[in-house]
Amino acid sequence: MNKTIIARAASDMEEIGVGLAPALRDGMLVSLVGPLGSGKTTLVKGIAKGLLITEVVVSPSYILAREYKGRLALHHVDAYRVGSLNELAEAGLDALLPPERGVTVVEWPERIDGLIEASDILAYIELQDNGSRRITLTTRAVS
Ligand SMILES: Nc1ncnc2c1ncn2[C@@H]1O[C@H](COP(=O)(O)OP(=O)(O)OP(=O)(O)O)[C@@H](O)[C@H]1O
Ligand SMILES: [Mg+2]
Repeated sequence: MNKTIIARAASDMEEIGVGLAPALRDGMLVSLVGPLGSGKTTLVKGIAKGLLITEVVVSPSYILAREYKGRLALHHVDAYRVGSLNELAEAGLDALLPPERGVTVVEWPERIDGLIEASDILAYIELQDNGSRRITLTTRAVS
């Protein structure tokens, strides 16, 4: 499935995340691709809200991954710095995650080989000249 949505404000971005949450299942991987400041973390805040997580979601930039508990566990990974930590990039995503199952949402997935291809949901965010964001959502067909 492929769908394009325009988000004019951060609140729209959150709503997109809220809308994705009901489709999420244990073990799913969600990749958020987009330039710096494009709204990836904002989208994760919406996903968290949709998963009934009450904790405040903050950017995990300095610790690479954070875990929240809701309808499902949410692993929020920011791989921005993984590229400069070669060993980590080679170890792959599993090295970043606690053992508990749940949904994994990754910012900067392109920093880890094979991650985008392995994603169940891909959100591709583009900044538009007027400041709004264009989000292309690709969902892998569930068999
Ligand atoms: N659709 C939108 N329209 C306008 N502003 C937005 C939109 N989405 C997010 N923002 C705002 O853009 C700023 C950056 O958002 P956010 O931190 O979510 O980006 P990010 O992609 O996670 O950034 P980084 O690459 O640094 O991790 C925030 O101030 C947020 O409120
Ligand atoms: Mg971010």
